[in-house]
This record gives sequence, structure tokens and C-alpha cells, in this order.
Amino acid sequence: HEPIAVRELAQKLSLKMKDVGERVLRLGGSEEYYNWNPETKVDLDVAELVGLELGRTVKRMAPPENLLEYRSRVREGRGGRRVEWPLRPPVVCVMGHVDHGKTTLLDALRQSRVAAAEAGGITQRLGAFHIPGVGEGGEEGGLGITVLDTPGHAAFRAMRMHGALATDIVLLVVSATDGLQEQTLEVLRMLEEQWAEEEEDFCMQRGGEGGKMEGFSPSLSLMVAVTKVDKLHGEEEVQTALYKIEHALAAHGIMSEALGGDVQVVPVSAVTGAGLPDLLDRVRLQAEMLELRADREGPGEGVILDAGMEKGLGMVMSVLMRWGSLAPGDVVVAGEQWGRVKKILGARNSPGGPVDRALPSMPVRVLGLRDLPTPGQEVIVVKSEERAEAVAKARREAAERRRYQETAATEVLGEEEQE
Ligand code: GTP
Ligand code: MG
Repeated sequence: HEPIAVRELAQKLSLKMKDVGERVLRLGGSEEYYNWNPETKVDLDVAELVGLELGRTVKRMAPPENLLEYRSRVREGRGGRRVEWPLRPPVVCVMGHVDHGKTTLLDALRQSRVAAAEAGGITQRLGAFHIPGVGEGGEEGGLGITVLDTPGHAAFRAMRMHGALATDIVLLVVSATDGLQEQTLEVLRMLEEQWAEEEEDFCMQRGGEGGKMEGFSPSLSLMVAVTKVDKLHGEEEVQTALYKIEHALAAHGIMSEALGGDVQVVPVSAVTGAGLPDLLDRVRLQAEMLELRADREGPGEGVILDAGMEKGLGMVMSVLMRWGSLAPGDVVVAGEQWGRVKKILGARNSPGGPVDRALPSMPVRVLGLRDLPTPGQEVIVVKSEERAEAVAKARREAAERRRYQETAATEVLGEEEQE
């Protein structure tokens, strides 16, 4: 989100400086570009427009495309200089098999009753809310925790993945009575893939080749809550269930602390409340260790969690903020759509009142989009409506071209198959 020099942009896109400069001048549409030179700083939205026109992809160092870069950016500023961005709340994504008790656990943690109001007792959309922190003396204070509740039903895989993309800690919920099931394993596979990809990126950046690397820490960390322990009879049965689950996890490469690894496994019951304070403490500690930081100033960036019509509000998109700030009046590009933010509200199922300024890790609902954006894509604040419109349009056209090429490719394949 920091502007990039014409020279650097040309280098990154392997294009001639003159070609890039000319397009910056034409597409940027601001006076600052009239007398561009190689050191002229180009806003990233303009850089993207230039790239799109020249058939190149301009990747921002932003979620969800590259979590690792995002995290390392949090730890280090440009040129390896350590930057003390303010701490931000951790984002915890609750995942697990259908009916294992994710929503009920969250209800118990925040004294709400979301599960009871769900159709068929099944979560069908991403929920996002904030659990306030505790200050000294127990009153509200500190950073708090942002929690995403994901659906466990097999059909909502894409939605779960959007949740995971925006997350710092995955809290895997496993029922003490059922153990690891289909969607539990899906989460483990997702983590494994994500970790492997990040480690590879990390090695590439350090000039290494494959293998384990010193100093690597993945952007997603894992904790496990074994829930419904009230259904078991006595401590011995609980220990047996934990033993089984921890060994099953180990078979998938996840080592609990009890087995010499670093994954915390916490037994809880949403019904009796057993283990809940312990679970919250451990999540907070884990977050403290991750030292999550983000800039609170400057143009906002976030991930779209959900978009749809809401009664009395019209078109609403739910956004998890990751960087900078977002306020009413800001112009945003949201995936392939754009708009001017009319109003910002707290997340659904949370107090939900108006918000003056959305800051990193805050889940908010944003009003003012022209059209429904696609969940999983990013939201960015840009300088003007003209630019927003141009970027959104260029992205739509690029997506259109990709779809066209894909269809053409399938048709060719189809013909070959017929021969
Ligand atoms: P999906 O969102 O559809 O994947 O389900 P979920 O994981 O959110 O499960 P949910 O919270 O809806 O709970 C499923 C059932 O388990 C409900 O009937 C809950 O009352 C019950 N349940 C959840 N936690 C506990 C618990 O700690 N103890 C007992 N005894 N029952 C629980
Ligand atoms: Mg649920």
C-alpha cells in the first residue's frame, strides 16, 4: 500500500520504463504524474491499472493473496527496519466438523445466544464478532479478540476458506465424543497446504531451496478445543478421549504439547463452562506471543467475508479489516466492485452500532457499494471515485478474459475427448 517508484514498477513488471511512465500519466489522471520521472511515486491502484492494461498482474503485499508477506510486513518495515506499528487484536477462526459445537462454544465465551436462533441448528454463513479484552481489575480493556465462526457443513467449504484466509489463529473444535471427522481433517489438510506454501515462499525469499528453514514461523497458528466434555463420565473418560484425539492428530502431523509438540489442546464444555476461562487465557497468550501489529493510519485494507442484502439496510458487505483505517466517505474498491462508504456498522450478532473508523482486526459491515462484491476478495481504499471505477472495471474485464480463456480451453479439451 505504499506507493512504488516508476523505475521499480517497470522492473517488477519487466517492462520498459517509458511504457510504464506513459501509462501512469494517462491512467493515473492526476497532476502529480504530468512530469513523471523514474523516481515518481505511483499509487498502487494506478500501478494495478497499468499492470492490467499491459497484461501483467500487480500483486499488492496484502491479504488474502500472500499471508506470509503480510505477516512479515507486520514485523518489519521496508528495508528490514523494525517498525513499531500498534498492536492489533488477534483474529481467531473457529473451525471444525458440523455440530461439534463451534457456535455454542462461542456463545458460551461471549454470553450470547446465536446457536439457538440458527435455522436447523446449522451455521450457514460466516459470523464475526469481538470478545472484549480484560483490563486490570477485570473490567473491559486491552485488545480483545476477533472471532470468526465458520460453518462446519460440508457444503460451505468456500466460506470456511474465506474465514481462514483472514485469520491469525485457527481454533479447531473437536467433539470429545466424536473425535476427528471429515471436516476436521479438511481443516488439517488446509493448514498443511498453507504451511507448506508459506515455508516454500520463505525459503525462496532467503535464497534457500526446499527443506526446513531456520527462523520460519507460519502466519496461521493452530489451537485445539476438545468440547462437550460434560458428556463424558468422570476425569478418566475425559483423559481417554484427549489421549485418543491427540494421537489421531499426531497421525496427521499435529503434535500436541502433551506429545512433545507445540499445539495446545484444551478440554472445554460449553454447557458447564468448564475450561472456558483457561481457553480464553491461552488464546490471549498465544496472540501475545505472535505480537500482531498493524498500521492504524493510512488507507484501509480488508477482506470481504460476506456480502448480501439486509433488511432495512440494502446492500451490505461484511469486512474484516487488516490494515489502515476505513471511514464513512472513503472510496473503496471491493473485489470487482466499488463504491463510496455511506455508513459503517459493527458486525452482525454484535452490538452492531455505527462505527466512525474501522481499524485493523475489526469486523464491520460496510454500506455504500454499487454492486455485490465477491467474498474472499480484498477491499482497498483508493483516492477518488474515478480511480475506483477504473480499477473495478479493469478487474472485471481481466476476470472476463480469464473466464473466456478457460471456457475456450475446456471446449478444445472437449473436442479432443470426442475424437
Ligand atoms: P455447525 O455450525 O453447523 O457446523 O455446528 P456447530 O459446530 O456450530 O455446532 P453447534 O454449536 O450448533 O452445536 C451442535 C449441538 O451440540 C447443539 O445441539 C449443541 O447444544 C450441542 N453442544 C455444543 N456444545 C456442547 C457441549 O459443550 N456440551 C454438550 N452437552 N452439548 C453441546
Ligand atoms: Mg455453528
